[in-house]
Amino acid sequence: MKALVLAGGTGSRLRPFTHTGAKQLLPVANRPVLFYALDSLVAAGIREVGVVVGSHGREIRELAGDGAEFGLRITYLQQSRPLGLAHAVRIARDFLGDDDFLLYLGDNYLPQGVTDFVRLAAADAAAARLLLTPVADPSAFGVAEVDAEGNVLRLEEKPDTPRSALALIGVYAFSPAVHEAVRAIAPSARGELEITHAVQWMVDQGLCVRAETTTRPWRDTGSAEDMLEVNRHVLDGLEGRIEGKVDAHSTLIGRVRVAEGAVVRGSRVVGPVVIGAGAVVSNSSVGPYTSIGEDCRVEDSAVEYSVLLRGAQVEGASRIEASLIGRGAVVGPAPRLPQAHRLVIGDHSKVYLTP
Ligand code: DAU
Repeated sequence: MKALVLAGGTGSRLRPFTHTGAKQLLPVANRPVLFYALDSLVAAGIREVGVVVGSHGREIRELAGDGAEFGLRITYLQQSRPLGLAHAVRIARDFLGDDDFLLYLGDNYLPQGVTDFVRLAAADAAAARLLLTPVADPSAFGVAEVDAEGNVLRLEEKPDTPRSALALIGVYAFSPAVHEAVRAIAPSARGELEITHAVQWMVDQGLCVRAETTTRPWRDTGSAEDMLEVNRHVLDGLEGRIEGKVDAHSTLIGRVRVAEGAVVRGSRVVGPVVIGAGAVVSNSSVGPYTSIGEDCRVEDSAVEYSVLLRGAQVEGASRIEASLIGRGAVVGPAPRLPQAHRLVIGDHSKVYLTP
């Protein structure tokens, strides 16, 4: 079985981060979220992977390379514009050939991996197999209706009035029958070729489309809140390791990873926390559930349940929590007078002020 990983798209809900980078490269415990997807493909025994990329393709190619580092062979497929998930399958036609394949949305995070799902898909001859999970807000997702035997009856993409609480997780197993389906459908109201519509087309043709329902954790890392939660989840499994410098005036509690070249001075770090190479943490309190990226600087501050991307600086911030701070962003003290907040923030940024 091959895999097709989708790492294009616009990532509009994660602006401003996605103005300058791919959302699939946003870090979770200082590693791109996409890499966890690639790990899970390897664990499921898949070796041949097509990665669909869009405008941030170069960055993704540079980081994931030819896949050898993961034990994969990666072929990159350039999508001219984010015209939909089914469009991405269309452009992968030559790469996929007549093989069965796993479609994996590169911003989805499944801690349990896809091994069981791949095994199930390999064991039966369905034309398509879906993975579903009950959610509180189904209208934000693809929604499926299934019968008691797990046969899919009907699918809708982000319906206003969902007919079930079962959301489509971004992992699908397809037989080559999907290629006719993605050619048969027309763009949706939002102008995209929806994979949900392609699967509905398969159901309408009388093809066997089956679904698995899971209650195991899953996240679509589409928003800052989701990113923080996935970060928390991954950090929960972190092993502590001190390779950088921690001075005698610092206290580390629990599982803390300090990468080589990182420095912790006069600080209290409560794990799980990861501090990237070249980062400096001084006179601060960090954690729990915090990832400090490479080359960040945290000084005279308290940071909890947050993610700092590479090169971010936080200084004199009495308490920061539940925050995602972008690459090279600066958070610092304003002059004492006038007493006012001073902001230089990008388009679509969000700032929440304590009165
Ligand atoms: O996360 C699960 C949901 O993913 C499903 O419940 C929905 O049925 C499915 O349509 C999808 O919805 P999203 O709105 O979350 O899809 P998004 O636009 O975020 O795209 C998913 C991934 O595919 C993301 O990594 C970007 C990539 N992508 C997206 C489009 C539209 C591409 O590579 N090319 C594209 O044209």
